Amino acid sequence: MKLDVVFTPSGLTPADVQGRTVFVIDILRATTTMCAALHHGARALIPVAAAEEALRLAQTIGSDDVLLAGERNSVRIPGFQLGNSPLEMTEAAVRGKTLIVTTTNGTRALLATQGAGAVYAVCAANLTGAAEKAQEALERDEPVLVVCSGRDGGFALEDAYCAGRLAAAALDSRKPRRGLNDAAIASLDLVRRYGDRWERPLSYGRAGRDLIRLGFRDDVLDAARMDAYPVLPHFHERRVTLAPVPV
Ligand code: MLT
Repeated sequence: MKLDVVFTPSGLTPADVQGRTVFVIDILRATTTMCAALHHGARALIPVAAAEEALRLAQTIGSDDVLLAGERNSVRIPGFQLGNSPLEMTEAAVRGKTLIVTTTNGTRALLATQGAGAVYAVCAANLTGAAEKAQEALERDEPVLVVCSGRDGGFALEDAYCAGRLAAAALDSRKPRRGLNDAAIASLDLVRRYGDRWERPLSYGRAGRDLIRLGFRDDVLDAARMDAYPVLPHFHERRVTLAPVPV
């Protein structure tokens, strides 16, 4: 049984992710927004690093069913139809659409996992389903890697807490936890500290405080709703879609 957590994607190499089942967390807000979009019928999301790349790709695809979504400094990118708020991803806005998405930390973390065995996006809104997936991988003796998107290359409290929730739900509490790295142990300690109340680490951390100050308090509250968007976004061949159901 091997479960590692990294608190930022900085320094991740293809060798770190190869053959692993990877879970990417950016609870405020990129992975929550992805879950909301797919839950409300978006066809796919395409994460890209830069706004210019998003515009070019939209032009190349050249379809009315493509929308641009994303933020810089938490605010919608000028000229984009959508920002990075789960509350914007209504059925009316996204059903049947492909979203080209660029956010500051979340898309960077997803893009850093290319080459992994399988990559899923995680947040409170899909925690139970994601933990089942992680548990299945551990039972098959596949190593699991949880990648926190963090903030500006550093630690983010809410992502680390979410990693701890995922690990706590996926691990068998009866078995010794020898296969955990130090970041996984620390994230489990955060769960002991904050208990099961998502809104505490979400609003105490820097990202949450900044979002509240910028008028996005409802986004923080939405991101704290456990299993609100019970879908499992799966990143494969540059696209995020609903995880395939095994036959
Ligand atoms: C990110 O990817 O950096 C965040 O999701 C930013 C945000 O919440 O706006």
